[in-house]
Amino acid sequence: MKWLVITDPGEVKKLAGLTIDWMRMMAENEDAVHPLKPVFPALVGLWDAGLDPICRGAPCLVYAYAENTLAYTDSIIALSTFDLMAPSFELGTCWAGLLQIGAMEYQPLKDELGIPEEYVPQYALMVGYPKYKFKKIPGRKQADIIWR
Ligand SMILES: Cc1cc2nc3c(=O)[nH]c(=O)nc-3n(C[C@H](O)[C@H](O)[C@H](O)COP(=O)(O)O)c2cc1C
Repeated sequence: MKWLVITDPGEVKKLAGLTIDWMRMMAENEDAVHPLKPVFPALVGLWDAGLDPICRGAPCLVYAYAENTLAYTDSIIALSTFDLMAPSFELGTCWAGLLQIGAMEYQPLKDELGIPEEYVPQYALMVGYPKYKFKKIPGRKQADIIWR
């Protein structure tokens, strides 16, 4: 797997804007089908109100990409390791799932990412300096485990 690291906040915002363009197009097209389509109008509305619900104003984006979809697991392991290590470097992260779903579908967003055509964008993390410090671990659902 390979990495694309974007450290220009303007470029991160541009990618968020292209994701919104795609969501707007999907929302306006009655025939378009996507499992997250019901939330697109709300996300577009937030963007139009001056917020960034896609990259959350993050200054940096880390994209894992690879030759084929088989490397998906490798990429997620690498990104999860990055995610876990980031606080040791006083960085905060957030999985960029909304950006990724756009990057899988929307050619102008793919073009802007500039990942070579023979490679597949696997997944991304937003990276920034955390505004808040952890006071306690957030509540978790109980683990759903089948024991045998
Ligand atoms: C696969 C995946 C995609 C995600 N995509 C987004 C996203 O696009 N935007 C966002 O704000 N949070 C997204 N999240 C949620 C955050 O990254 C984070 O997991 C969530 O806020 C819970 O954080 P915590 O586990 O530290 O409590 C995603 C999470 C996962 C697992």
